[in-house]
Amino acid sequence: MAETLKLASRVLRRARWAPELGTSLGSKGSDPTAPHGLADIPGPSTPSFLAELFCKGGLSRLHELQVRGAARYGPVWSASFGPVRTVYLAAPTLVEQLLRQEGPRPERCSFSPWTEHRRRHQRACGLLTAEGEEWQKLRSLLAPLLLRPQAAAGYAGTLDEVVRDLVRRLRRQRGRSAGAPTLVRDVAGEFYKFGLEGVGAVLLGSRLGCLDVQVPADTETFIRAVGSVFMSTLLTMAMPSWLHRLVPGPWGRLCRDWDQMFAFAQRHVERREAEAAVSGQGKSEVDVGAGAHLTYFLLREKLPAPSILGNVTELLLAGVDTVSNTLSWALYELSRHPEVQMALHSEITAALGPGSHAHLPATTLSQLPLLKAVVKEVLRLYPVVPGNSRVPDKDIHVGDYIIPQNTLVTLCHYATSRDPAQFPEPNSFRPARWLGEDPASHPFASLPFGFGKRSCMGRRLAELELQMALAQILTHFEVQPEPDAAPIRPMTRTVLVPERSINLLFVDR
Ligand code: HEM
Repeated sequence: MAETLKLASRVLRRARWAPELGTSLGSKGSDPTAPHGLADIPGPSTPSFLAELFCKGGLSRLHELQVRGAARYGPVWSASFGPVRTVYLAAPTLVEQLLRQEGPRPERCSFSPWTEHRRRHQRACGLLTAEGEEWQKLRSLLAPLLLRPQAAAGYAGTLDEVVRDLVRRLRRQRGRSAGAPTLVRDVAGEFYKFGLEGVGAVLLGSRLGCLDVQVPADTETFIRAVGSVFMSTLLTMAMPSWLHRLVPGPWGRLCRDWDQMFAFAQRHVERREAEAAVSGQGKSEVDVGAGAHLTYFLLREKLPAPSILGNVTELLLAGVDTVSNTLSWALYELSRHPEVQMALHSEITAALGPGSHAHLPATTLSQLPLLKAVVKEVLRLYPVVPGNSRVPDKDIHVGDYIIPQNTLVTLCHYATSRDPAQFPEPNSFRPARWLGEDPASHPFASLPFGFGKRSCMGRRLAELELQMALAQILTHFEVQPEPDAAPIRPMTRTVLVPERSINLLFVDR
């Protein structure tokens, strides 16, 4: 039986046995000092939580349910997400306690419909979905290529070209529809193309053309499939399996979208393979040394072809919504806080030298304090992954509770990063809080890239892309809000996205 199904049934068994486990694993009983068990954890009843998710639009407001759950039940509560019982942790101390007890191969399990797709469609898992030994092997192969600071610095040249194209495209997109001549509608749509182009250039060592005048149709299809997969993921997870037979739409869509993404990756990997064969190995190894050609390195390591494909597909997906939504929110907030934008522009131009539109080296960018603080603050307010998860491989002690092995635990990053006890005026955009203006928050209060052995593999690449894009956009444009535009709230679509299009004015400097 597939890992997912095994896990789901283990988790289900736990859920069914919860009362007994509560006793055996330390429901207080007569000893008031003993830790509590699963059965003691407060939370909504299954029918009321399902009604919240399906009838009251809770699936797209899961991030807000974290905050409401913590207010109502405290920092530990439990609810059934479809067939699986989940324990929610919404205090930084508890998140830290759980993550510090991780074993050598932490299990995330937040993407089980994705794993199920790989199993049913005979596809190999990439790093996002792999577990156990397979994950560990992939992680040790990819980490030196993506996470080492020198590796990230090696992409700067490639990304520089991509960022230049982004600025050109923003210029072209201005005034394309009704409104001011400097208006760009739906900036996230533009930044999805940037995200795919950036990660594609690093993975494949070639350009996809997403930022060209004519965007290739297959890249549009890929981007649409990413959005659609995120949309159906939560729905398929929340639906009990018997409901999949009655309402097959979401599962069918999820498989169709993944298959389209795999087909896209396959075309591009095969093209690279053919090019590598023609250009000869020596040249490609030099490219690899410069960190610019990750797929070739995987080919050279003799990773089986299906595994290369699984990894490239998942990395392409991971590169699209993450960077683009963060960049959209950053410009949205900067447009509404002109004083911060002005200070950031001054910091960038001071590093460049007056009147220069040249590009700053990655090493300089990573040392600009306000630029770093803006990115941190945006990821605090709008963590791309609002709720991460873990499945402990042993019984663990968290707060007053013993959480049994194989329980799905959701880490409420959105709730902790908007906690007023950690961040005064938590809903305000104040990058200065990261520059010593406020008392330091708990280090696990804002964890946008996760933590530990299973933390984000693309973190350095993402930070570099964000810093380079922000520096160049602000060097060329003053970004202003669309006149009379109402505030935009985030919504959950597996990842956190703007609930409406963000439209902004890009005024030449
Ligand atoms: C702002 C940008 C990004 C954010 C906020 C972000 C956030 C995250 C988070 C929270 C996780 C889960 C970590 C954990 O479980 O502890 C993760 C995992 C991952 N991310 Fe990112 N990510 C970003 C960009 C990227 C990019 C650009 C790539 C691709 C190059 C990427 C590739 C991955 C992969 C492969 C994993 C799975 C790692 C593993 O399971 O070992 N991410 N990311």
